[in-house]
This record gives sequence, C-alpha cells and structure tokens, in this order.
Amino acid sequence: MTMPKRDILVTSALPYANGPIHLGHLLEYIQTDIWVRFQKLRGHQCTYVCADDAHGTAIMLKAEQMGITPEQLIDQVREEHQRDFADFLIEFDNYYTTHSPENRELAETIYKACEAGGHIARREITQAYDPEKKLFLADRFIKGTCPKCKAEDQYGDNCEVCGATYTPADLINPRSAISGATPIQKASEHFFFKLPDFESYLREWTRSGSLQPQIANKLSEWLDAGLQEWDISRDAPYFGFEIPGEPGKYFYVWLDAPIGYMASFRNLCNRMEGLDFDRYWKEGSDTELYHFIGKDIISFHGLFWPAMLKAAGFRAPNAIYAHGFVTVDGRKMSKSRGTFIMARTYLEHLNPEYLRYYFAAKLSGAVEDLDLNLSDFVQRVNSDVIGKLVNIASRCAGFIKKAGGQLADQPENPALLKQFTDKAETIAQAYETREFGKAVREIMTLADVANQYIADKAPWQLAKEEGKDAEVLAVCSMGIEMFRILMTYLKPVLPAMAEKAEAFLNTTLTWGALDTPLFGQSINKFKPLATRIDPKQVEAMVEASKAPAAEPKKPAKSAQQGKKAPETPTEIEFDDFAKVDLRVARIVKAEHVEGADKLLRLTLDLGETQRQVFAGIKSAYAPEDLEGRLTVMVANLKPRKMKFGLSEGMVLAAGPGGKDIFLLSPDEGAQPGMRVM
Ligand code: MSP
Ligand code: ZN
Repeated sequence: MTMPKRDILVTSALPYANGPIHLGHLLEYIQTDIWVRFQKLRGHQCTYVCADDAHGTAIMLKAEQMGITPEQLIDQVREEHQRDFADFLIEFDNYYTTHSPENRELAETIYKACEAGGHIARREITQAYDPEKKLFLADRFIKGTCPKCKAEDQYGDNCEVCGATYTPADLINPRSAISGATPIQKASEHFFFKLPDFESYLREWTRSGSLQPQIANKLSEWLDAGLQEWDISRDAPYFGFEIPGEPGKYFYVWLDAPIGYMASFRNLCNRMEGLDFDRYWKEGSDTELYHFIGKDIISFHGLFWPAMLKAAGFRAPNAIYAHGFVTVDGRKMSKSRGTFIMARTYLEHLNPEYLRYYFAAKLSGAVEDLDLNLSDFVQRVNSDVIGKLVNIASRCAGFIKKAGGQLADQPENPALLKQFTDKAETIAQAYETREFGKAVREIMTLADVANQYIADKAPWQLAKEEGKDAEVLAVCSMGIEMFRILMTYLKPVLPAMAEKAEAFLNTTLTWGALDTPLFGQSINKFKPLATRIDPKQVEAMVEASKAPAAEPKKPAKSAQQGKKAPETPTEIEFDDFAKVDLRVARIVKAEHVEGADKLLRLTLDLGETQRQVFAGIKSAYAPEDLEGRLTVMVANLKPRKMKFGLSEGMVLAAGPGGKDIFLLSPDEGAQPGMRVM
C-alpha cells in the first residue's frame, strides 16, 4: 500500500474571540480534525492551523462592557477556546490569534500589494453614526420600531416579529443599540478592494473542479450578478490594525481574518524545522491548501480571499469545504429550550468522543445542515460504540487472558479477515471526500460481521466443553484482530479510545499496519474503553443549558406589538420587567472594602459563574453573617466600574436603611442560578 506523500495545510474558520465555543462551532472543528487525523494516519504531512478572530467592533464593545481592555478579553477567550478544543480532542498544530505581529505584517504586505496593483479605491460614504458614543454604527447596532408591524426594539436590518427586511433608514424612531442616542448620518472616507478586477480569475477558480457543486453554483450566481467593490476600512475607534499611512483608518476585521490562517502558519514555521512558509503559500506551490468553513461565510472564502491572494502573488486554495449548520431536535439551537449547548456544558455531562462519533456518523461531503437528535444520539452511541465496537473486545479479552495473554499463531478464518482489510480503500476514499457517514456505515457493517462471527462460534459455550481451549483462543484471537482493524479505521473519529485500544493491543494503530495482524503476539489487560450514555446525562445537560445567567431572556415579543411608551414614568410595561434577569445567588464571600463605610464586596455564585458585586448593606450585616446565604440578584445589570472595582450586578434588599436592611433571601431548596419569576 504505497502512495505518494502529500504536503497538506488545513484550516478551520477562526472563531470570534468574544464568546464561548458551542456545539455548532464544534461541528466544524470536529469535521476538520477527523479529516486531518485521517491524513496523518495515512502517513501524509498534514498541518492544521487555526486562531481566534480577535478584531472588530463587537469585541471592542464587549471588552468595554466588561471593564477590561480588548487585549485582556481576547487573551481570556483564547485560553477558554483552547481548553474547549483540547478537551474535544481537536489537535491543532498551531492555535494562534489574528492580533499578532505576524498577522499585522502579512495584512500590510497584502494590502500594499493590492494598492500597488491598483486594486484599492477610496471614496467618501455616508453612514449612521452614534453622536454620543462617537462611533459609526453597523446595521446590527441600530434598533428601532419595525416600519411594518410596529414591533419595538428591532434590529436595523430585519424584524424578528414579522420577518420584514429593510434598511436602518426605514426604522421608526431609530436608536443606537449602544448608547440609545438617535443616530445621525455622517460622511467619511473609506477604502475599497476592487473585487471586479478579479472576475475572470474567480470564474476560472470556480470552474477548477475541486469545489463542492453547491459552492461552485453559488459563486457562479454571484459572479453572474456582478461583483461589487468591497469596503475594507473602518474608522476609529476600532480594535484592529491601523492601515499603514492612514491614521484613524483600520482594516475591517474580515480583511485580516483569513490572513490569520497564513499568520498562524508562519508563526508555526518560525518554530518548526522543515516547514517552509513560502513553499506553502507562493504562487505555483506544490502543496495542498484547504479551508473548512460554515455555509454562512462562503463569500468571504470564495470571492474576496482568493482575489486578495491573487493580487499579492500567493497561491489559491485547492478547495474550500463548507458544511451546514447544526440543529438540535430539528430546530435551530435555542437558549430557552436549552439546546444552545456550550462546549463546556457538554463536557460536564458527556464524553467528547460521543459527539465526535455522532457528527461523523451524520456528516457528508455536501453543504447540508446536521441535526443532533438527542434521543437518536443516545441510542446510536450506545448501540454502535458500546454495543457493537467495544463489545467485540470485551467479549474476547477475558478468554485470551485466561489462555496466557498471547493470541493464536494463525487466523482461524483468513477469508473473513480479508473481508475487513479489503474495505480499506473504500473507507479511505470516504474519509478523503468527507463522506464520514459512509465511512462509519462501512465500519459498522464490519462490526456486525465480527459480532455475528463471535455469536456463531460462542466461545463462552466452547469454554465449558472439554478440550476446546485452542478453539476458544482461535476464535477470540480472530475477534481481537477484527477489533484492531476496526479501531484503526475509527482512529480519526475516536482518538482517545484508539489510544486505550493501543495500550490494550500492545501496538500502534496505523493505516500502513492494517495488513500486519497481531497473531502470535501478547496483548495486555483489557480495561473498559467506554461506558453507555444514560439519557439522564443528556437531560441534565439540556437543563444546565437553560440555567446559565449569561443570556438574559428576551422580552416576550407578542405583548409589545404596537405599544406606545408608558404615560407615567413610575409605571413600567411588563416587558420592561421581563428584561430584568433575577437570579438566586449564593454569597460565597463577603468582605470589607477598604475606604468604604457602607459597602461590602460580595462574591456571588450563580451556579455556572461567579460575580463580584458591591452592596451598600454594611450597616445591617457583618460579612461573616452573609457567607453561605442565598440572596436574589439582578444578574443582567450592566457591569459598573466603581471606585473600588467592577460591580457585576446588584443584590436585592428591603427596608428603610441603617440597621433595618433585610436581604431578600429565597427559601432553602433554591439553587444558585435559578431564575426568579
Ligand atoms: N470569525 C469568523 C470566521 C473568520 S474565518 C477567516 C466567524 N466566526 S464564528 O465564530 O462566527 O464561526 C466560526 C465557524 O463556526 C464558522 O465557520 C461558522 O460557520 C461555524 N458555525 C457557527 N455556528 C454554527 C452552527 N450553529 N452550526 C455549524 N457551524 C457553525 O464566522
Ligand atoms: Zn415587524
């Protein structure tokens, strides 16, 4: 089985550095990781790089809201992202950030090449501007009343109540979502990348034959409709890279984001012998380059990115591989249903390899959404991974051990084994084309064959009969050998289980060793490889996904249609009240604050997170009286910077003041994180 060695560079889209990784993201990183592990298992040189996408207005505002610098925010988030990825066994060769010196340098180089080639235009444009915050407002930062159904508090581009789409100029009573100020129209100079210059090049690239048909069609459609110049600059204040020689003008985050792929790779090359940046990126490269992405970002990768690369003398990607979106139980992931599941929440309840297996079993090479059906997930993992795969080893291991731990010298049924190894090319082809579902089906069909063989031979029966020891050993050795082949096939999907299997089988599982059976060799003690999923674990995960205080509940939309602002300032609408996220919190720490005579610094536990809150209750409570008690807090109060530090919420108390302040405490039995209604 010899094949020419390939040099492959693979990327996944760079997750934004302003929020946690969720199961939707994970589809992409798991898909890519399986593909990369498969290439490595086959003996190719395959490098997998990624990074956090650290720039843009959203990140700047989020940091500000948290009272930290954008640099602090992106460092913190990157650490969390890397931990989540590592725990899902996603093995990057480098995980970097777009806020890096390498990326700045490459972004400047590419921009300058575009400019030198005459592909940059400048002109003045007029946009919505927040006069209070002194910030240009993208559509999603403008809110107002829907012009069609009059629902309040709708975003600048579409109405979530009636589904109408419009421009922010159509909104009734438009407001800045950031400050509440009424936006004004303001002009400023912007820089544009002249995408139409690359039309014929992009057409050629689209027809290269290596793109998924859906992507090729989409790109052709866009090309036929006519390409537009692309606005690549943003005005200060902005968190990103300043455009060289243009003070106050920054590269739009989507300009330097894909360049982040190169920057992450360059950062790796600087540390790794034998990886040559230019060899991988220069025009005419003999290496392969693939970008795994979601279907929502095809235009950035299929139009702007190859055009920019071309303008700067770099190679084009061999392909972009787009996947669809994750739905849960047939619907969009939803916070209120508890199906917007964070990577960390999943890990607290379930084994990461089970999600890898389930995604693999349902993935194809097409741009299709993937439904995580929770009961099917339990059933499928239990029946395939535990019931079929692990079962083969666990049924045979004991008999081998009894016989001294050494496998029989010869296969009891060579033709049967050949049936297993004969599938290698079909399965490899399925992995190669990202038809993971097909690969898994082939593998599980073989697992059925193995189980049938063992059931027919019934070694547990033979073991009771006189003089059948050799036969028992022969049958179980076949079982172990079939298990070895299956585990090799599944190693890209189940890397941790494969590692345990390697310890048990006393061998390394590689594609090249598929034809080298273990007969005559000793194996080690069998330790359980995996346990069944109890549906209760899934229920608990969904419950925990409903609880986190992070996202305040959206006001009930139906009640607010067409409503006017209240007449009297003392009366509030139900919806106003619904915006207040009241939570049960446990006071885990209460401390005096130096220099403050009314305040205590409280550390509040909300179940999933902890908050620091300064409360003016020192006159009524000594810190030691508070520790361990439950209270009710406003969990979605915008954090406020106080003289003594950041206050991230507010506890509720009643009473006239002084000694007579009574902390509102829920009954025993309430749990931190519970919503108060
Ligand atoms: N930062 C950009 C990508 C820049 S690449 C140069 C971005 N980030 S993201 O965090 O929003 O998404 C990262 C990847 O996860 C994207 O490919 C996106 O399509 C994918 N997914 C995000 N939510 C998803 C689902 N619910 N389901 C499947 N994939 C999803 O876009
Ligand atoms: Zn509407």
